[in-house]
Amino acid sequence: MSVLLETVGLTRFFGAVCALEELNLCIHEGDMVGIIGSNGSGKTTFLNLVTGYLKPARGCILLAGRDITLLSPRQITRLGVARSFQIPQLYLNLTVMENLLLALAARSGRVGLWARLHRQNWMREGQEILKQFNLDRYGEQRVAELPEGARKLLDIALAVALQPRLLLMDEPTAGVSTQDKFAVMDTLVSTLRGSSITTVFVEHDMDVVRRYSRRALVFDQGRVIADGEPSAVLTDAGVKRAVLGHA
Ligand SMILES: Nc1ncnc2c1ncn2[C@@H]1O[C@H](COP(=O)(O)OP(=O)(O)OP(=O)(O)O)[C@@H](O)[C@H]1O
Ligand SMILES: [Mg+2]
Repeated sequence: MSVLLETVGLTRFFGAVCALEELNLCIHEGDMVGIIGSNGSGKTTFLNLVTGYLKPARGCILLAGRDITLLSPRQITRLGVARSFQIPQLYLNLTVMENLLLALAARSGRVGLWARLHRQNWMREGQEILKQFNLDRYGEQRVAELPEGARKLLDIALAVALQPRLLLMDEPTAGVSTQDKFAVMDTLVSTLRGSSITTVFVEHDMDVVRRYSRRALVFDQGRVIADGEPSAVLTDAGVKRAVLGHA
């Protein structure tokens, strides 16, 4: 498998805190990678650096061999990197479909008359996406009224609507009840199956990482302390101590 994302010596401080330290990482095309780690271990910082929301103190980020370290979030999105957020970034007072139409318009980069002419096509595509994510019954509902699981799925659906090469998700099941977690992940994985989207997701729940990732990375105090096959990585006593605070 070829390397899609590579970081070399990636380092970021917040004041005296080293949020990410000398991260050397390769993510391969088509992989499904789960990142786990205790609070404050640098997981979101990593996603913020890759998507251009933060800049590193040192090091660089390569996307398919191209140096994207100094590009803006918008430029990085245009190169095929999309993300969902720890707290979904949605327009709460708009409907589900309106949020989706805005994402599709943003993907095209066009506004005004051109966008109005394409509204019908986008509506069709939007309906298709909502169906894939089991959200079609919510199409006309305001986002503010959605259950948490549906809101998380919509945030992810907006990222997938951008047809990215690399999809980054920050805690796709955060705030979702334990019994709904697997339903959210099942929907997501069945949607991604068959696509060539490389996926990296941050997750606090070991069971979710074990079940849905092909590779697990464990962050601890800004460093990767374990990397490999999920069932092996997550049963390691040192990893359990770092993630759960006990073995
Ligand atoms: N904008 C910021 N300003 C100051 N410190 C920050 C900022 N963002 C992150 N940090 C610090 O950097 C470290 C890593 O934070 P980060 O948000 O990446 O952790 P995380 O692994 O995503 O944690 P969580 O599981 O709680 O989401 C923490 O010590 C955090 O307090
Ligand atoms: Mg975080």
